[in-house]
Amino acid sequence: MHDIIDQLEDKRAAARLGGGSKRIDAQHGKGKLTARERLELLFDEGTFEEWDMFVEHRCADFGMQDNKIPGDGVVTGYGMINGRLVFVFSQDFTVFGGALSEAHAEKICKIMDQAMKVGAPVIGLNDSGGARIQEGVASLGGYADVFQRNVMASGVIPQISLIMGPCAGGAVYSPAMTDFIFMVKDSSYMFVTGPEVVKTVTHEEITAEELGGATTHNTKSGVADLAFENDVEAILMTRRFFNYLPLNNREKPPVRRSGDRADRLDLSLDTLVPDNPNKPYDIKELIYKVVDDGDFFELQREHARNIVIGFGRLDGQPVGIVANNPLVLAGCLDIKSSIKAARFVRFCDAFNIPVVTFVDVPGFMPGTAQEYGGIIKHGAKLLYAYAECTVPKVTVITRKAYGGAYDVMSSKHLRGDVNFAWPNAEIAVMGAKGAVEIIFREDKGDPAKLAAREAEYKARFANPFVAGSRGFIDDVIQPHETRKRICRSLAMLKDKRLENPWRKHGNIPL
Ligand code: HXC
Repeated sequence: MHDIIDQLEDKRAAARLGGGSKRIDAQHGKGKLTARERLELLFDEGTFEEWDMFVEHRCADFGMQDNKIPGDGVVTGYGMINGRLVFVFSQDFTVFGGALSEAHAEKICKIMDQAMKVGAPVIGLNDSGGARIQEGVASLGGYADVFQRNVMASGVIPQISLIMGPCAGGAVYSPAMTDFIFMVKDSSYMFVTGPEVVKTVTHEEITAEELGGATTHNTKSGVADLAFENDVEAILMTRRFFNYLPLNNREKPPVRRSGDRADRLDLSLDTLVPDNPNKPYDIKELIYKVVDDGDFFELQREHARNIVIGFGRLDGQPVGIVANNPLVLAGCLDIKSSIKAARFVRFCDAFNIPVVTFVDVPGFMPGTAQEYGGIIKHGAKLLYAYAECTVPKVTVITRKAYGGAYDVMSSKHLRGDVNFAWPNAEIAVMGAKGAVEIIFREDKGDPAKLAAREAEYKARFANPFVAGSRGFIDDVIQPHETRKRICRSLAMLKDKRLENPWRKHGNIPL
C-alpha cells in the first residue's frame, strides 16, 4: 500500500513540476507565473480541485513516445472565487510551450462539459504555442472540439479568457469566442500568424508586440477588453470582475449592497454639462458619481473611446453601463463604438444584467471612411442589440440625442423601460444650425435671417419637452437626482418579464 501511495505522490510531483525547473525559471525570467501559481492566486485558498493530473498525450511521432509529462501541458479543474464556483483551465507553457494536443484538448472539453451541466463559468488562462505540431490533424480536431463547446456555452455560462503568453493560430480563436479577453502587457500576444509568416506573405516587418501585443489589441483592434501590468494584477482584477457576473443565464447577478444610499444626491452634476452645447465634458464623471461607491469596472478603456462600457452597481444591483462620451469625437457613433457597445449589450442581455444608458450623441459619424467601412451594417448592430434586449433598460439623455442615434441609444421605441432626460437635453433630428441650413436654404445669403431661424428652431426643438409631450421621455429629471431615479427604476423593474418570439436565432447584421 505504501508503495502505491509513494507512486501516487511521485506522479503528482512530476505533474506539478511540469516541464522542469529550468523551464520554470525561464517562465519566471519573462516575468510570468507558472500555470499552477496562477491558479493559486485565482482561487479562494484551498478550494482548487484538480482533474486529469495524470493524462498523457498519445503521440508516437518525432520521438514523442519517450517524452510524456503528466497533465500534458494544461492544469484543469474547479474551485471558488469569493465563494462562487468556477471551472478553469490553465495552460502550462513549460510543457511543449503549452501547445494543444488531442489529450490536452480533451481535458479542456471535460471541464467545459461539466461547467455546462452545473451552470458555472469557465475561465481560461491561455499561454500556448497553438496546435501541438508533432500531432498534426489530431491537434486541429482538438481545437475544433473546444471551439464547438465555446459556441454552445456562449450565452449559457460566462466565459473569460486571460491571455498570459504567446497565443498563436488556434490558440486565439477559442478566446475570441469567449465573452471577455484580458491581456498582460509585454508578455502576451495574440495573432493568427506570427511576425515571420507576416514577413513572408505581406513583406511587412513587424514585432510581435506591434502585431498582437496587449496595446495593439486594447487600442487598435478592440479584440481584447483590458490590459494589465502583470500576471498578478490580471488575476486579481479577474476575481473582482467575476463578482459582477451571474454563474449562468438562469441566474441573476449577485447583489452586494454597500453603505452607499440609493437616494444619494450629487449636486455637482447640475453643472456637469457646459452651457455651450458644443463644449465637451467627460461622461465618466457622471458614471463615477452615480454608481455605488464610485466603483466602475470599465472595459475597452482605450478602444473606441467615444463610447464607454463597463459594469457598476446601483443599490447593490450589478448593471451594465453604456455611455456616449462627448470628450472623444463629440460622442458620435462610428463603426468601432457601435460594435463595442453592441457586443456588451448582448452580453448583459444574455446574463440578466440590466443596462443603464447615458446618452449624449450628435449622430452617426459622417464620411467616406465610415461609409466604405460599412457604418450602415455596423451601426445596425447596436440598434439590433438594444432592440432585441429584454433585460431592464434605463436611459438618461444628458444633452444631445440627435437623429438615428437617438433611436439607437436605448430609446423608448426600442422598448426602453424608463427613459429620462435632463432639462437641457436636445432631442431632435439634428442640431439647429444644420437643420435651418437645410430647410431654409433660400435664406443662405442672409445671415441675420438664418440666425433668427436657428434661434426659432432651437426654441422649438432643442429641449426634452417635445419628446416628453409624446411620452417618449418618462420624465425630465434634475441631474443631481440621477442616481436616485435610476435606482428606483431598477427596483421597479426587478421582476420584469419580457420574451422575444420563438425563433432558431435572429440574424444580427454581422
Ligand atoms: C509543439 C511547441 C509549439 C507547438 C512551442 N513549442 N510551440 N511544441 N507545438 N506549437 C515548444 C518549443 O519547441 C519549445 O520546446 C517550447 O515549446 C518553448 O518554445 P520556444 O520557441 O523556445 O519559446 P519562445 O521563444 O517563447 O516562443 C514561443 C512561440 C514559438 C512564439 C509560441 O514557440 C512559436 O512560434 N511556436 C509555434 C507557433 C505556431 O506556429 N503554432 C502553430 C499554429 S497553427 P523546448 O523543448 O525547447 O522547451 C495552429 C492551427 C490551429 O494553431 C488552427 C485552428 C483553427
